[in-house]
Parts: sequence; C-alpha cells; structure tokens
Amino acid sequence: MSLPQRILLGVSGGIAAYKACELTRLLVKSGCEVRVAMTPAATEFVTPLTFQALSGRPVHTTLLDESAEAGMGHIELARWAEAVLVAPASADFMARLAHGLADDLLATLCLATETPLFLAPAMNRVMWANPATQANRALLETRGMTLLGPAEGDQACGETGAGRMLEPAEIVAALRERHAAGPLAGVRLTLTAGPTREPIDPVRVLSNRSSGRMGFAVAAAARAAGAEVTLIAGPVALPTPAGVNRIDVETAADMHRAVLERLPATDLFIAAAAVADYRPAETSAHKMKKSADTLELALVRTPDILAEVSAHDPRPFCVGFAAETDDLLDNARSKLAGKGLDMIAANRVGPTLGIEQSDNALEVLWHDGARSLPRAPKEQLARDLVALIAERYRTLHPIKEDTTLHAQD
Ligand code: CTP
Repeated sequence: MSLPQRILLGVSGGIAAYKACELTRLLVKSGCEVRVAMTPAATEFVTPLTFQALSGRPVHTTLLDESAEAGMGHIELARWAEAVLVAPASADFMARLAHGLADDLLATLCLATETPLFLAPAMNRVMWANPATQANRALLETRGMTLLGPAEGDQACGETGAGRMLEPAEIVAALRERHAAGPLAGVRLTLTAGPTREPIDPVRVLSNRSSGRMGFAVAAAARAAGAEVTLIAGPVALPTPAGVNRIDVETAADMHRAVLERLPATDLFIAAAAVADYRPAETSAHKMKKSADTLELALVRTPDILAEVSAHDPRPFCVGFAAETDDLLDNARSKLAGKGLDMIAANRVGPTLGIEQSDNALEVLWHDGARSLPRAPKEQLARDLVALIAERYRTLHPIKEDTTLHAQD
C-alpha cells in the first residue's frame, strides 16, 4: 500500500505537536509532498519555522492572511490535498470538527475538503474517555473520518492510559494501510440501473426512458468510496465505470434473478433501475402483424425487486429511488415505509430534470431524517448521495477500529 502523494498535515494545539515535526520529516523522506497548517494554539508549542524547514514549504497558520491567500488560498489548499492528516488532533479540535466549525484555518480546511480525513488524537486519558469526546469520535467516524490511535501509555501529564498520540512511524504505517480505504471500504454493493425491456414479440418491447446515467454515476462514486460494486444494468449505452463488475440484463425477470443471485454477497443494495412494473402476459414467438385498428395487450406485474430484497432475512441496507411527477415527498415517504427501506432518494421528473437529463436534484429521506441535495450534474449529485448513504450505513455498521496500539516508552 502506498502513501498519499500530497498530504495536508494539520497540527492542533497539544504537547504532541513536537512529534508532528518527526512525522513531517518521515513523510517527506517517504516521498510525500507535505504542506502544514497549524492552529494558533499549535504555534505556541512549535514554531511555524520548524515545519517550514522540515517540509520545505511555507506553513499556513491564519485564515485571513493576504499573502498566503495570494499564494495557495485555503480552498485551493483543501482541493490540492490527496489526504488530510491532523496530528495531533486535540480534544478541542475534534469537538470543533464534529460541530462543523470553521473558526480557524485548519478547521476551515477540514470542512472545505472532499479528500479523506485522518485524525491522530492526542490528549490526557480523562479527556479522551470523557463522554463528550467519545460522542465526537463516534460522530466523526460515522462521517467517514479515520482515527489513527490513540495509543495507551505514559502521558506528558504524568498519567498513564489511552490518549497519547501514536508514534510518527506508527502514523505513517497506519496511513499507508488505510490510504485508499474510503467510507465504504470493503462494503459489497449491488446496484441496479437503467431501464428494463419487456418483449412483446421478437422486434417490439415495452420499456421506459431511463438512460441509466444516475445509476452508473452512483456506481462510480461508490467505487471511489471504496465499495466493491456489482452493477446490474438494463439495456443502456454507457461505459462501465472503472473497477466496477457489470452484469447486463434485459428484462425485469432477468434483473430479479441476477439480484437474488448476488444477495448472499450483498451488504448494501441500491435500486436505481427504472424497472418496468408490467410486462406483456404473453410474448409472441412471431412478429405480430397489424390488422384491427386497435390492439389490446394484457399485462402482468413484474416482481418488485427492491421490496423483495428489503423483506429478505437477512437483509442488506436498502436504498430505493422514486421518480415522481406529483406529490414527491408524500409518494417517497410511502415507498420508504411500504417497501421497508433504509433510505429513499426521490426526484421530480420534469422537462429539465431527471430522466434523460444531465442534471438532477434529490430529496433523500430516511425514517428519522431528510436532506435535500440541490440541482447539480448527476455525477456531482451521485457523489453527494453516496457520502450520505455511507454516513447512514456507518451508523448501523461502524468501521471496526483496531489501531489502538499499546505503546511503551
Ligand atoms: N423497483 C424494483 N422493482 C420493480 C419496481 C421498482 O426494484 N419491479 C424499485 C426501483 O428501482 C426504485 C423503487 O423500486 O428504487 C421505486 O420504484 P417506482 O417504480 O418509482 O415505484 P413503484 O413502487 O413501482 O410505484 P409506482 O410506479 O406506482 O410509482
């Protein structure tokens, strides 16, 4: 496993800030480009000049610094980073991060970045054990941040217990191991996308106008978030996203079969397909010839794949979609409850949004919450939706943390 190439190292105020100097040296020695951002409290422990010498770059300390903003501004810095590592992460810094504060440069950078965030906590053992800190830790992990440590051992305050920062070499090793592991790392995702096609005869079908673009964008975003993705696609003209396992199907019955086959190896199911609700009761083996002025086709219901997966025991975490022209929220709420889903993403279908359009907007609902994802290109929207799904999924399936090391002096 390799290290991220561009690391933004955040240093918050604590005695362990002195260890961040060695950490900077090790990262630079490993070939990483390191830019350091310090909180005002951190500068009381170590001077920015020390980090500047070790990283070979100017150190960022204040949000409202004209010359720094003229160089690499804070938003640019947040975008530049391939990973953000805050070491040490003090109790105060974790609390501010948990509440989304942007009251200094480092907190603002953490809020403004879309890259993975790693925290190496360092604090007195009682502060670490405090329910407030533990609640903040849980919240940060739920949001996909990765905690490296803390370790147990002798502390600068003279006490012994959990709360001391991992040694710099241990942080580098843990970062190497965890890099590329997004919030859905190891999660087996099965996703349906596109329309289905129900044959009337050898040349005619019943179908709908779904392009599959939203589902494919969700597959790509989930892969980027670390999931192992199987995409069960109806007939669409779209390339397979990198790293995604694709199974092509034609009819609702094919899709149903493919999904059930994957079910034992599915932790998360996202039904983005516009499955035909009805199929012709009979498929003619021969091309039907026109004769009468009107033609009646008998249709029968197709299986509701999503409802069936959701009712399965054991069941994966289930996310549905609802495309509606009217009463968006009411219809979505009743599908959420009716199909027993964990989440539903509802979109309005209109001339400039949704089906066959490049933009979309979503109302995402779950049993005790909701979030609006405003109009955006489907790719951007898919990333936001996957982040939200990961957040909800992790409240039920938190990432197991086994990096609490027992360090000795
Ligand atoms: N779905 C499914 N199998 C079906 C029909 C729908 O898996 N046979 C899934 C879709 O992929 C979507 C969700 O169920 O995630 C909602 O589908 P939708 O067609 O909008 O709702 P329906 O429950 O079919 O209700 P209606 O068509 O009456 O709006």
